[in-house]
Amino acid sequence: MAERFLNFIGGEWVGAAAGRTFEDRNPADTGEIVGVFPHSDASDARQAVGAARHAQPAWAAIPAPKRGEILYRAANLLEARAESVAREMTREEGKTLPEAKGEVGRAINILRYFGGEGARLAGQTMPSERDRVVIHTFREPVGVVGLITPWNFPIAIPAWKAAPALIAGNAVVLKPSELSPLCALRLVEVLDEAGVTKGALNLVNGPGAEAGHEVVVNRDVDAISFTGSESTGGGIAVEAAKRRARVQLEMGGKNPTIVLKDANIADAVATVVNAAFFSTGQRCTATSRVIVEAPIVEAFNQALIERTRTLRVGNGLEAGVEVGPSIDERQLTKVLDYLAVGQREGARLEVGGERLSDGAYAKGYFSSPSVLSAVTSGMRVAQEEIFGPVLAVMPARDLDEAVEIANDIRFGLSAGICTSSLSSAYEFMRRIRAGLVMVNVPSAGVEYHVPFGGSKESSMGLREQGGVAMDFYTEWKTVYLKY
Ligand code: UN1
Repeated sequence: MAERFLNFIGGEWVGAAAGRTFEDRNPADTGEIVGVFPHSDASDARQAVGAARHAQPAWAAIPAPKRGEILYRAANLLEARAESVAREMTREEGKTLPEAKGEVGRAINILRYFGGEGARLAGQTMPSERDRVVIHTFREPVGVVGLITPWNFPIAIPAWKAAPALIAGNAVVLKPSELSPLCALRLVEVLDEAGVTKGALNLVNGPGAEAGHEVVVNRDVDAISFTGSESTGGGIAVEAAKRRARVQLEMGGKNPTIVLKDANIADAVATVVNAAFFSTGQRCTATSRVIVEAPIVEAFNQALIERTRTLRVGNGLEAGVEVGPSIDERQLTKVLDYLAVGQREGARLEVGGERLSDGAYAKGYFSSPSVLSAVTSGMRVAQEEIFGPVLAVMPARDLDEAVEIANDIRFGLSAGICTSSLSSAYEFMRRIRAGLVMVNVPSAGVEYHVPFGGSKESSMGLREQGGVAMDFYTEWKTVYLKY
């Protein structure tokens, strides 16, 4: 019997009011049910929002440094459970165990980092134009925030939204993806056990169309932070605008990495393979276009294809596996469809491209990592986000043309370059339109204490992570005081 999990509303673990449930299955072995979760609807979400509204003043009344101590305690609790949470992550999301451990470690760092923000919620004291008047500014919580999070970073993203939200004194309603809900629940458990005021943190499970939609349209939700698909994000922005709610969106990417002829080819291949294929390419920061300077295209391609062919695909719990499954059938079909589209458009499939279904692969959503070569900007495989282990190789004459190709896209999340020339690196940094620039490191794999977010259609609203994350979760109050 699979374990049953509950929603967390007003400090109580409860099922969906209508009694419905859904299954969280292992994408590497779909016979395995990781857990059964409440299939919540709008009424469950309304309850959670009501509980949050009710609890928020009490939570905000706790001095911020004390709220910080609660986050530190939550970090310690998560640290004690890191190994088991990481295994659960691999089972529900499919990423490899080392990747899962890294992600749990990231969540622990995030809790500690934002715990520290409790003692740093500084305002300013300013002179006034008037005699004996002083002006103070304070950071105040926004109120109730709705957090809608994706399946691909099932604990880091809930943590990097919930931690700054809570430390600022907001109450939270978290709606994690129904494809990997267990990790978010583990985060909520440690925050609850650490002492977050009952009702200040609520968890509602289920598909976005019901519970998620209610979080977006409910007038008691003051701000919404969303990470996920472009189409859902676009809809959220429209709904939020209708009721003037604050909104922050992190969506798609089609991230380029440029490889210049002065790069060390072996290092560049390692960097690009990591960025394109690790986490099964299911990162919004993944490299999906590698733009290679003409003189080394052949040599780079050959080394890239060789390395890609040796990537070990499998169940992420097995030692030595480098690439796990796609998250579900839909995502796997999308990967295979795009490979067909690319070849019809004239790209050449150099390696991979098959659904793996023999033996141990039979019950999972596995495919072999793929490289398409001779891709040009006009092709759909160069423009549309695939979100799987597919890499397009695009030749370029020189740095100028490479930057032109890199920028010829609606997205602007992450962008990388492999080069040994400092001038080329700076030139690239200045001319690329992206929120994250990576020089000789993979386009994916960000750190928790610096701003994260993209330009163009990748993102909307203020940046996440690092100290600047507090800007989204706080509102300035300006006080004029005459003495
Ligand atoms: C990373 O590259 O370390 O959903 C993080 C995503 C991004 C997070 C990427 N929001 O893939």
